[in-house]
Amino acid sequence: MSGVEQGALGRPDERVEGWDKVAGRARYAYEQPVPALYVHPVLSTVARGRVLAVDTGPARASAGVEAVLTHENAERLADTSDAEFAVLQGPHIGFCGQIVAAVVARTPEEARRGADLVQVREYAEEHDVVLGPGHPRLYCPDELNAYPEADTRQGDPAAALERAPVVLDRTYRTPMEHNNPMEPHACTVLWEEGTGGGSLTVYDSTQGVHPVRESLAQVLGLHAEQVRVVSEHVGGGFGSKGSPHAHNVVAALAARAVPGRWVKLALTRQQMFTLVGHRTPTIQRVRLGAARDGVLSAVVHDVEEHTSTVKEFAEQSAVCTRMMYAAPHRRTTHRLAALDVPIPFWMRAPGETPGMFALESALDELACELAMDPIVLRERNEPDLDPETGAPWSDRRLVQCLHEGARRFGWAGRDGRARSRREGEWWVGTGVASAVYPHFVNPGSEVEIVHGQGVYTVSIGAADIGTGARTVLGQIAADALSVPAERVRVRIGDTALPPATVAGGSAGTSSWGSAVVAAARALREEHGSEPGEGARARAGTPEDAVAPGYSVYSFGAHFVEARVHADTGEVRVPRMYGLFSVGRVLNPRLARSQLVGGMVMGLSMALHEHTVMDARLGHVVNHDLAQYHVAAHADVQQVEAEWLEGADVRATPMGSRGVGEIGIVGAAAAVANAAHHATGVRVRNLPLTPDRFL
Ligand code: MOS
Repeated sequence: MSGVEQGALGRPDERVEGWDKVAGRARYAYEQPVPALYVHPVLSTVARGRVLAVDTGPARASAGVEAVLTHENAERLADTSDAEFAVLQGPHIGFCGQIVAAVVARTPEEARRGADLVQVREYAEEHDVVLGPGHPRLYCPDELNAYPEADTRQGDPAAALERAPVVLDRTYRTPMEHNNPMEPHACTVLWEEGTGGGSLTVYDSTQGVHPVRESLAQVLGLHAEQVRVVSEHVGGGFGSKGSPHAHNVVAALAARAVPGRWVKLALTRQQMFTLVGHRTPTIQRVRLGAARDGVLSAVVHDVEEHTSTVKEFAEQSAVCTRMMYAAPHRRTTHRLAALDVPIPFWMRAPGETPGMFALESALDELACELAMDPIVLRERNEPDLDPETGAPWSDRRLVQCLHEGARRFGWAGRDGRARSRREGEWWVGTGVASAVYPHFVNPGSEVEIVHGQGVYTVSIGAADIGTGARTVLGQIAADALSVPAERVRVRIGDTALPPATVAGGSAGTSSWGSAVVAAARALREEHGSEPGEGARARAGTPEDAVAPGYSVYSFGAHFVEARVHADTGEVRVPRMYGLFSVGRVLNPRLARSQLVGGMVMGLSMALHEHTVMDARLGHVVNHDLAQYHVAAHADVQQVEAEWLEGADVRATPMGSRGVGEIGIVGAAAAVANAAHHATGVRVRNLPLTPDRFL
């Protein structure tokens, strides 16, 4: 670097804990060095029914076993209103792979052996685990995940479709999918009796220690102050660690059964396929009405999905269609079928990810039908204002992402006809798709900054799930305090620190960082730029962090080259390029890793990911990484992400927007569109397995 001093923000700092992680010094939830007992859950083997009897005798007699919890002997929980947390509270079985008992033993092996010996007699009722079109159980949910309305309508879409010179009517399907973070869900828990009613300490692998504390306190009938949750390092979550799940409750129940002794629980990879959420399968009918010049008059997006009978989760798959393109007549609907399946939950960009696969595939199909370049078609339907709300955009540069991305990718001169390029045994094509993700700043985080001996200690109970959040919070603080980053220390991942909202919705850095800026300003206002020893200030995420009256989203454009083998149908993706507009990039190293990681996850979705339910037996068939395929190194070739320069001061005080999820949104559509361009085969049903091209 030259002698020019560079501010902390915008600098590609390495993760401050990076060396600890690669050297094995970073301690994860399960690795706390405490003498502990081990918990192994026993799971139901029927998809619907009830537990008739549990014979714990052989398990209790097994070596090392200290306790066996069942629905008959487990503590009654104080609050069972959230049925996911009502673990071991009754005999009902709502899905295959539900916790029906748990063994506590001296070693993990003894716990697992004990769990094998627990004899659970189950009564099986008829079950239904497969979402088909027009499923008889479909209903309209009261609300979607974070969105108030399941259905929206503007104008008269039915009449507009009837009048439209060109109508596209297609149905797309995305399969059930599972998050597979490297680190399984795990916790180390201690219950201590004593004054004040006792205390619970939980080392957890989570996207939010404060939310876990609130949930566990409520379920167990404790005051929040009686519960401490610590999560210093997390090996990925993708949404699945965005709330506690049944295993946290069973670990707490086990800990309370052996007061004064630590217990550890780590889900096996197989158990993760039923206990920590999944992405629902979707059936999405998209109808587009357009003039011959490509201008849309109507957009209709109707979604069918599943949820569980135990607890509702409604994936918001069509919400992106509400704001993405201009059209006077539009409708979106969501219908759910409550099936006897595990409980769906967040998986990276829930809603936008499956929804944009459908919408961006449909746009590509319409472009083909009109013999129009797919970038031109999108540009022609660019809305001046948010079509859903009428609000002005804070910073919508989708067209710029498409144009500049096309230039950098080398789109010009593309022969738009499908099956027009062959190299040896491979059909070669290129595809494009838009990306979008909403901007959230969640209220409720607080930051404390204390100055001592020249060092500013920034404290907030936030989560770093591998993203580098700890590092970027330090950069934000250094910038706001006008001091070098070396003089800032960041403490996160502990409910002993001020409250922080979940690392989810790509909102972590935006929400916590806004509070960091506010606290830094407060410190300087109260104590000047040379604060004395022990000077401190505390502030929360300001209510006006996002400028009111604007529609704030991130955008992007994906470009993909796909090759499809003429004889085997194998799909290879030698090149993915994404150009994004995400406001100011606070740390290019970390942001790139989020964007590229999202694109790889989108590639994985396009090529491989597919959870299979066994209709007859009601279980997840491919519940391990041997059978549930995620993209491996050999799949990931040249993947590059870049972004447009510029700050969005309406989004956060830092000028940034979120980067965690937008990389996956639209990526699968770009792959499918490229595969169509290569072969002429339109795959509307993910993933793009070889058989689809033969
Ligand atoms: Mo992300 S799916 O909002 O944790």
